[in-house]
Amino acid sequence: MRKVTRGIEIAYEDAGRGRPVVLLHGFPFNRSLWREQVESLSATCRVITPDLRGHGETTVVAELATMEEMAEDLAALLDELGVGRAVVGGLSMGGYVALAFLRAHPERVGALIFADTRPQADTDEARRTREETARRALADGMEPIADAMLPKLLAHATRVQRPEVVARVREMILGTNPQGAAAALRGMAVRRDQTDLLPGIGVPTLILVGSEDAVTPPSDSEAMNAKIKGSRLVKIEGAGHVSNVERPGEFNRALAEFLGGLPT
Ligand code: MLT
Repeated sequence: MRKVTRGIEIAYEDAGRGRPVVLLHGFPFNRSLWREQVESLSATCRVITPDLRGHGETTVVAELATMEEMAEDLAALLDELGVGRAVVGGLSMGGYVALAFLRAHPERVGALIFADTRPQADTDEARRTREETARRALADGMEPIADAMLPKLLAHATRVQRPEVVARVREMILGTNPQGAAAALRGMAVRRDQTDLLPGIGVPTLILVGSEDAVTPPSDSEAMNAKIKGSRLVKIEGAGHVSNVERPGEFNRALAEFLGGLPT
């Protein structure tokens, strides 16, 4: 499905009926990241999965794609879909966007799901690496980016035992437009520290992390969990950074239990 808003075309899936649940993909992926979650949750919820700007089939805007811009794209999409308040979840960069959305539109957030993400801003070194990666993507395309990222994204066991998962994640990366990727890298590099938001979160919050996540390690999720009142942390054993794809069964069970326990 497609909606034109804020001068771009946003591609998204809108599956199932019931409580609206938004799931935001990480970098440099697209909404197909959530395939197993859409299949499982759409039996009981309305699952909305957009392609963030510059990714998937959503318009590529070549300049900077900040987390705030992506959060405003989501707000506009939800307006178009007639959704006021939703459960808002995101994996990694999707979590950065969920935090930006929470800051801008707290009244629209009924519950939160943070998967393999963190609230803090980049270090100076991380910013430099992002800029180098952005230039590399623009000069050489996504192949070298996929080669560099894959060993970090997936747990060792996934890499050796699940070639279909490796191929799927690689394909998502290769399918991302280099200009969209560069814009998002530059957007992530300038994202603000959102840690101060955490103690004020008053909605149910689920935090998930792969026990082998090497990009946003479990210690980041533990620190988030300690700062959010009443949040629940679930470690997905044996999964890396893309925990929902690496271990969809465990991930979906945790989501279903969390969503089933929310007040109506
Ligand atoms: C992601 O998975 O969205 C990215 O790896 C996040 C990041 O680079 O900070």
